[in-house]
Order: sequence, then C-alpha cells, then structure tokens
Amino acid sequence: MSSNIKGKIYHRPRLDDLTVFHGMVTRSQTMRTFFRMLQRVARADATVLIRGETGTGKELVARALHQLSPRAERPFAALNCATLTSELLASELFGHVRGAFTGAVRDRQGLFAQGDGGTVFLDEVAEIDLEIQARLLRVLQERTFVPLGGTQPRSVDVRVVSATHTSLRLHVERRRFREDLMYRIRVVPLFLPPLRERPEDIEALIWHFIDELNSRGLREVDGLDSQTMEAMKGYLWPGNIRELLNAVEHAFAIGEGPIITLDELPPELRGEELPESASDRSERELERVRIVEALAEAGGKKGRAAEVLGMSRSTLWRKMREHGLI
Ligand SMILES: Nc1ncnc2c1ncn2[C@@H]1O[C@H](COP(=O)(O)OP(=O)(O)OP(=O)(O)O)[C@@H](O)[C@H]1O
Ligand SMILES: [Mg+2]
Repeated sequence: MSSNIKGKIYHRPRLDDLTVFHGMVTRSQTMRTFFRMLQRVARADATVLIRGETGTGKELVARALHQLSPRAERPFAALNCATLTSELLASELFGHVRGAFTGAVRDRQGLFAQGDGGTVFLDEVAEIDLEIQARLLRVLQERTFVPLGGTQPRSVDVRVVSATHTSLRLHVERRRFREDLMYRIRVVPLFLPPLRERPEDIEALIWHFIDELNSRGLREVDGLDSQTMEAMKGYLWPGNIRELLNAVEHAFAIGEGPIITLDELPPELRGEELPESASDRSERELERVRIVEALAEAGGKKGRAAEVLGMSRSTLWRKMREHGLI
C-alpha cells in the first residue's frame, strides 16, 4: 500500500439519490429537471440550442435528444464548426459537386445529406462565419440547400441541434452572428450548468469514472484518501466533467494500489499551479463574465438573467454591486 495515504479513506457510499440518464449521472435536482425537459423536447421536433461551458456534456445531451426522438433509427450527423476554415466548413455542411474547387475530384455528401431523416448536430455554432450563416438560415427556413458548385437545391428533412459555449446574443450584438439565425436555431434553448454549480455531482462522477476505468483493468481502485477527496470537492473544475474524467484517468495512469492519493492528481488539483489567491481571483473573474453574459443574453432584464444564472434576483443585485456592474 502507498505510504502517501493521508487521513480517512473514502469508500463508495450508497448514493440513493443517483440518477443515470443516457450515460449522464447526476444527483442534482436542477439536472433532474433538465432531463425531464430533455425528454419532452426530444419528442417535439423543435430546433434546440444547448449552451454550456466546455466539458459540461453538450454532446451527450445532443445524442440523448436524438435517441429519445422519433428520428432515433435515422442518422446522427455531428460536426464541430470551430475547427474548420470557412471554405472547408461549407463543403462539410453542404457537400460539393465534382469540380467545385481544386481537389474536388468527385461529388461529396455533406453533413445535411448524411443526416437526412435524422439529426444534425452543429457543435460550436457561434463560430460559423456570416456567409455560411446565410446558407444555414436557408436550410432552416426552406429545408433546402445547394451543394458547393451545384445549381439544383436539394431538399432535406433534418432536426437541427446546435451547441455553444458562449452567448449567441453577445455574438449578435457584436455583429458576428445573424439575429434571424439566432432565433431560428434556439427555438428551445437548453442551459447545462457548470460542475461548480452542482457540487453534489462531483463525488458521484468520481465513482462513476472509477467504475469505468476499473473495468478496463489497468488498476483496481476502491477508495480515495481524505486529502484527495477534499481537493476534488474544493476544486472549481473550469474544464467541468471532462476535466474531472481526465483527473481520474491521470490517477489511474500514474498511481497504483487500491487507494487514490493526492500525489496522483494533476498539479492544478494539488494546488501547485494555482495558489489559493489566484484561484479565488479566477473564480471572481469567471463569475463576473458569467453575469455580464447572462445580462446580455437576457437583453438587460435582470429577472431573466437571474433565471439563466440559477440565482435569485436579490443575489444577482448583490453580486452586480460587488462586481461594480451597477
Ligand atoms: N453527467 C455526466 N455523467 C457522466 N459523464 C459525463 C456527464 N457529462 C459529461 N460526461 C462526460 O464528460 C465528457 C465531456 O462531455 P461532452 O463531450 O459531452 O462535453 P461538451 O460540453 O461537448 O464539451 P466541449 O465543449 O469541450 O465540446 C465526455 O467524456 C462525457 O462522456
Ligand atoms: Mg463537445
């Protein structure tokens, strides 16, 4: 056994309030409400925009929406719009005909053709440039598109689900996103709260990922020492659930034995890279940014902004004063 074990050892507790929904585990009431909403929304063919910070599970939610929908047996076609140049993106979305540009040696199907009859998932939709936004609008309005280099519009039957980590409203205000398109793609907006706002999920996720990694046979973990549990519960998880998964994977990769200890966690969790004061500061900055974004998204209406932020109006007022926003 490792000599680095400190204090009490945490073994798997009975988590009576655990919910598992399409690969997502949670103990949070907000998330349970979210899942119920998801079930209803999935059945309607409505266009959905999922907003959430990086690693909060936007892609899992998009897949659940598809699986729960009448389109489940048809394709789910996904694309990350942030990683491609605008020319490539147009061709990935709408396809091209042979000779459309240098290198287009044969016809190629795009995302909308691939997803015909099913769901198209546009990840990081805020990053799409204005020219392609105009084409996208046409798909949503008329259910047709023209492949690059083509002349004939093609009709298509897709349900569009998009995701963004930022506020589309802010992009609209900065003239980087078409307002008409924003209304078309967020007929139903869904907000996935960051992990730091559902701290009761941290431990549930730790055990969930320990199970998953144990089953791969690399290590047989059955506990964490108290320092490790405290560090994980006290951390803000800017990278959310993906970062938590990475932290558990890190421990599996570099440690051994049945108990995970603090020295097996990534440095930012051991407090080595982020001294307390710096992490406090970054938490405050994060909060300020979230408030500003929520206000922008709510068109300045504090009641709605408070709703988006999941806090009461009076808390929002107090925080706005603290941050010098009023
Ligand atoms: N509630 C959850 N329970 C278990 N695993 C989850 C949950 N939410 C997310 N995950 C896992 O966390 C990781 C990140 O999720 P996902 O890729 O859906 O996030 P994302 O919001 O799309 O992130 P990004 O913005 O970085 O693309 C994935 O490995 C996913 O399986
Ligand atoms: Mg994603």
